[in-house]
Amino acid sequence: MSKTKKKPKDPASMRVLFVTPECYPLVKTGGLADVSAALPPALNRAGAEVRLLLPGYPAVLNGLSDLQPVGKPLTDLPGTDRPGSAPATLRIGRTPDGVLAYVLDAPALYDRPGNPYLGPDGKDWPDNAERFAALSWCAAGFAAEDGLDPWWRPDVLHGHDWQTGLIPAYLELRPDRFAGPFRPGTVTTIHNIAYQGLFGAWMMSDLGLPSAAFRIDGVEYYGGVGFLKAGCFYSDRLTTVSPTYAHEIQTAEHGSGLEGLLATRAEALTGILNGVDYDIWDPAIDPHIAARYGAADLGGKDLCKADLQATFGLDRRADAPLAAVVSRLTGHKGLDLVLEAASQWIAWGGQLAVLGNGEPALEAGFRHLATWYPKSVGVRIGYDEALSHRIQAGADLFLVPSRSEPCGLTQMYALKYGTLPLVRRTGGLADTIVDANPAAVNDGSATGFQFVNANVQELTWALRRAAALYRKPERWHAMQQHAMTRDFGWHGPAEEYMELYRAVAPVVVG
Ligand code: ADP
Ligand code: GLC
Repeated sequence: MSKTKKKPKDPASMRVLFVTPECYPLVKTGGLADVSAALPPALNRAGAEVRLLLPGYPAVLNGLSDLQPVGKPLTDLPGTDRPGSAPATLRIGRTPDGVLAYVLDAPALYDRPGNPYLGPDGKDWPDNAERFAALSWCAAGFAAEDGLDPWWRPDVLHGHDWQTGLIPAYLELRPDRFAGPFRPGTVTTIHNIAYQGLFGAWMMSDLGLPSAAFRIDGVEYYGGVGFLKAGCFYSDRLTTVSPTYAHEIQTAEHGSGLEGLLATRAEALTGILNGVDYDIWDPAIDPHIAARYGAADLGGKDLCKADLQATFGLDRRADAPLAAVVSRLTGHKGLDLVLEAASQWIAWGGQLAVLGNGEPALEAGFRHLATWYPKSVGVRIGYDEALSHRIQAGADLFLVPSRSEPCGLTQMYALKYGTLPLVRRTGGLADTIVDANPAAVNDGSATGFQFVNANVQELTWALRRAAALYRKPERWHAMQQHAMTRDFGWHGPAEEYMELYRAVAPVVVG
């Protein structure tokens, strides 16, 4: 879809504006924050010049250092023309990791406490459409003739999830506003197709979209304005976060209604597996855990297990297989199956530690389970970054029974901690875990346990296989050591993104 204009010869490296609604440690609701923190430095190491663009939540404005305004106040952002609104300003600073980050400081849109998407009542903020249209508008502004930062023009605008879906739509539909000396390439990454950003048709003009674009070959989606749909339609290239999910989202079962469009864009869609930031997720250097350890000497892991059992009030039994969950508690994570299978696991002598928050029914279910089996089940409802590390280190088995999982990061973290993942074979879980079938155990390639269909019988059978293997310590240790030496670092994925950027960036002439 690219109407590539030539870009003057410029010896500088690939300039990428990485537009994301979350970035660890500033603001995090899930894996996108981890990706946004680790991928830009990996791209910079691969020769790119990446800058972030983030919404100006209080935690972002407070967390960036050396903040300076860039250019004049922004006067035409969607959603900022309310009476009494403070003017919006673009600023630039540095993340705690030293990456340069622009921040859209628009108090009318982002100066609110708590969760970035939900109000205190647990419901979406009523102006989420304007809040993220403004972020996309701001990103598109970098391409305009009077570019938002005249000293830095990106070659590529790379947006993440529905919150940034309008970026390529603005470039395409508003040349009056965003045409510039050259048109940057556009990439949209789908981290989870289930979240689509669907808003009322009546918002078209408030969002700065021409009414003619309200059609199936445009931003219209099931009678409304679809932000992710727009991204999928107008972006030069699309990526998602694992090869298997790239196939799955072209099917009715996983495509959430976008499968038809994605199938027509199959040539433009790539699955690039996420990586792990081993500066943060490595038991050899992790400051949060009771004792440090590595693949060569797993001794410290026993201490971590004892620490975890004590923290969760579980029986201090070194020989009890301890399974763990660290997750958002939502339907697609499949944790209702864990609730159902738990009694059987406990009957086999297993223990369970759960950290998560989300849907009230699942929270209540896990609380109830812990009351029922106080010595075998421990549950923390909430969000606790440090505890999530201690769980990774202290557990034997890490459960990710997702109904769908675009990539999933926690199972890759678990591998590094020698905590064998038990996963459903879907999305990135299928791509990262090798099932301990007899052949794979014998040839040493197994790293965890998989089950195929999302039902309690299959989960229970996988738990049974795990419990049986746990009783063969030599085989279990061999599998742990193999799991710990798998390399899911960001280097490879960063190279794949670089190749994609080269394919969409404006052509260099001169
Ligand atoms: P998703 O993005 O779908 O939630 P991922 O596996 O990609 O799934 O990423 C989840 C991230 O959020 C991981 O870093 C995980 O450790 C973290 N996480 C999830 N729930 C919690 C929690 N309750 N407390 C601390 N960290 C959590
Ligand atoms: C989404 C997905 C998860 C993925 C993460 C980072 O939240 O649900 O599977 O790992 O994004 O890409």
